[in-house]
Amino acid sequence: MLQVSKRIKKTERQKQSANLTDYEQTYRSFSWKDAEKDLAKEASYILNAAHIAVDRHAQTFRKNKIALYYEGENGEKEKYTFLELSELSSKFANTLHTIGIDKGERVFIFLPRIPELYIAFLGILKIGAIAGTLFSAFQEKALIDRLSNSQTKIIVTDAKLFPRVSHILKDLPHLKKVILVERGAKNVPKHPKLLYYSKIMEKISSECKVRQMKKDDPSFILYTSGTTGKPKGVIHRHLAIVQEHVTAKWVLDLKEDDIYWCTADPGWVTGIAYGILGSWSNGVAAVVFGGRFDPSTWYKIIQDYKVTIWYTAPTAIRMLMAASDVSKKYDLSNLRHLCSVGEPLNPEAVVWGQKVLGLPFHDTWWQTELGAICIANYPCMDIKPGSMGKPVPGVTAAIVDDKGNELGHHKEGNLALRPTFPSLMKSIWRRPNKYKSYFVNGWYMSGDRAFRDKDGYYWFIGRADDVIKTSGERVGPFEVESTLVEHPSVVEAGVIGKPDALRGEIIKAFIVLKSDVKPTDALKNELSLFVKKHLAGHANPREVEFIDKLPKTRSGKIMRRVLKAKELGLPIGDTSTLEEY
Ligand code: PRX
Repeated sequence: MLQVSKRIKKTERQKQSANLTDYEQTYRSFSWKDAEKDLAKEASYILNAAHIAVDRHAQTFRKNKIALYYEGENGEKEKYTFLELSELSSKFANTLHTIGIDKGERVFIFLPRIPELYIAFLGILKIGAIAGTLFSAFQEKALIDRLSNSQTKIIVTDAKLFPRVSHILKDLPHLKKVILVERGAKNVPKHPKLLYYSKIMEKISSECKVRQMKKDDPSFILYTSGTTGKPKGVIHRHLAIVQEHVTAKWVLDLKEDDIYWCTADPGWVTGIAYGILGSWSNGVAAVVFGGRFDPSTWYKIIQDYKVTIWYTAPTAIRMLMAASDVSKKYDLSNLRHLCSVGEPLNPEAVVWGQKVLGLPFHDTWWQTELGAICIANYPCMDIKPGSMGKPVPGVTAAIVDDKGNELGHHKEGNLALRPTFPSLMKSIWRRPNKYKSYFVNGWYMSGDRAFRDKDGYYWFIGRADDVIKTSGERVGPFEVESTLVEHPSVVEAGVIGKPDALRGEIIKAFIVLKSDVKPTDALKNELSLFVKKHLAGHANPREVEFIDKLPKTRSGKIMRRVLKAKELGLPIGDTSTLEEY
């Protein structure tokens, strides 16, 4: 098994100053019912995630507190108080209402990280519609899959992204309108389906009665990738905010005076659960930076906004490690707690944080389907670098075999959870059987392989399937393969995640070319760009290899595990189902 590296011990002062001071005791006594009741009381018994996250604060001493510090990619700066966010999102809610959008209908946001994204998201929830978010790197193929499967009624986008939407309008028969955020656009597009954000927001009332939701009513939908088939719409419910709230408080340790920066885009679950809902429900001031990753710019954001709590991802941390000297130029002394999520956090990264930033990174583990942090390193607990930590109070985790039987300490198996916590997905959009397939013998099977040590810490080993994690972003190999085969030179494609020291994994594509096509380096480059252009900017294969034949089962399924084993020089394993190769 893995080498357990030395603990990072917490001092008594560190432990006592955290929001959660005694993990073991809280784990034993915690109940979701009580947590739910407490939050309901705080929020005057209005169950609506947007009300709990933002509106309720607009009626308290936090009314004029800054909720959102926004900095755009060109350095433009804006501030929004809780009251302003509440009023603007009410205006947006009223707009949707006037267009005739009703409870349960899907409204998708395809925007970069600008304030309107956050305003629209909250507004959608307020009327009880289901908010969908789309990462701005998505191209037409990824957009069609998600927007047509969800039968979206409205898309909110901007002038830069609208051309991608306009090309697929004919494929979206359920679409009523596209709301275009003009913000800074030189050429504002014209189209009969378009409504203009600034115009509609100008005229409409900022008062809206937030819809009271039932616990299981859906709040947002996020498409996520598995091994096979198109991405699936994971549906989360309003009640999930209870877990997002509690974990943001205990794991991220958010307090009244904190300045919090979650670097995740709301196109992914972290950017929703801890970039909108759980963080604001704790009344914290949040920083949103709309620009790209760059070590100097990121450190400058931490310095300029005096960021105290930082939730980020391992690839970014590793990139910062590679530019370690840059940190010395900035005052990062306000930082007091660091967390990470999305892919394995290597022990060196935890220790680097301690050495260079004066604080270790605290790893957290969860998934799109889980809606909130489920396993974590807490500020009150010693860290074992390389471990994901221990289950959240209210979450029962175990390592189980394929039949759902529990395994003992230090045994590798499937990381599984009892499906009894509020943030677990409620359904998969129009795929009830897919939803059922996650559960075995009363356990939710995460698809991750892991082990638990004798102290109850969980250690990640790898995926049980072919899902790829590249720079922390989840990519389904099938989506990349089916894009590649649309290229006129390609007969077949097999795609794997190849371990990479910086990005965790990179995407590697094995390609069978048509017999009359020459296998050149230029073509490799072209194929990689083809995926970038048609599927998504982050899904392009960084390596392409031409081969004569793909390994397949006798029933014709591509055996990606064989491609991976060969690539890594590992034993191929059971080949009894393999077609001659
Ligand atoms: O394989 C695990 C990995 O990311 C997967 C979930 O990806 P996604 O749905 O995009 O959600 C990511 C953000 C919540 C998991 O099945 N993963 C996530 N966190 C960790 C991790 N792998 C290792 N260590 C982690 N801390």
